[in-house]
Amino acid sequence: MQEYSLQMRKEGKKIGFVPTMGYLHEGHLSLVRKAREASDVVVVSTFVNPTQFAPNEDFSKYPRDEQKDKMLLENEKVDAVFIPSPEEIYLRGFQTYVEVGEITRGLEGQSRPTHFKGVTTIVTILFNSVMPHVAVFGQKDAQQAVVIKRMVQDLRMNIEIIVHPIVREKDGLALSSRNIYLSEKERKDALVLSSSLRYASEMIASGEMDSGEIIGEMRKKIEAVDSSSLDYIKIVDAETFEEAPSLSQGGKYYILVACRIGKTRLIDNLLVNTGKSELFV
Ligand code: PAF
Repeated sequence: MQEYSLQMRKEGKKIGFVPTMGYLHEGHLSLVRKAREASDVVVVSTFVNPTQFAPNEDFSKYPRDEQKDKMLLENEKVDAVFIPSPEEIYLRGFQTYVEVGEITRGLEGQSRPTHFKGVTTIVTILFNSVMPHVAVFGQKDAQQAVVIKRMVQDLRMNIEIIVHPIVREKDGLALSSRNIYLSEKERKDALVLSSSLRYASEMIASGEMDSGEIIGEMRKKIEAVDSSSLDYIKIVDAETFEEAPSLSQGGKYYILVACRIGKTRLIDNLLVNTGKSELFV
């Protein structure tokens, strides 16, 4: 991988990179297209990273389809696909981890305490392997994107991080490889995540600035769905990821929700800009 990237760099090509865990869907492909726009050659990695899953999580049953992934990436005319084995990534005797502080502790970090250490470690290894100029991450994992940006800044990694908007089904469900776990009924129930976010944005559009009120209404909607088990709803400053007890005019915030539908844990979010007439950004 490094030889390829060094050659591309020698030829003066700008390398765009999209790290994924495979089982690609239209959301991933939108990141690939964004990388294409921003660079000369596009590299995509698919690697289901064991260190970002806790022992009780879905690592072993995480969906995989390497042949289909390769076909989709070929259709997108990506220049290189990097599919390392776990042994190639985590060398014998591996003992070096990258850990980002405060902003990894709340939200996903609170529910999944070892998750971000695994993410920042693998992303660093992938960055060092692919040596990209630009990397594209999805807004679906909004906290992950902010954590990666922090790491890149703190460790002076010379890589531009682009965050690309969530791709949704027509009915609002955010695309996710984990949607495959949902039964037909759960698939319908899962719409409560996006519909409660939309409801929150309508409340804000009509002048509600109290986060507690907004979260309370979202909670009622989600708890009314029998298969749901709410993990968190938070409203945070979009840059710092600090909780915002109230919204101020002209601010940018993420409203984030994590919820189990049946056994499947789903996350979704909305980026709102209270200073704009068009609330969604
Ligand atoms: O967002 C993902 O799919 C993963 O967390 C990533 C960034 C590919 C690291 O394994």
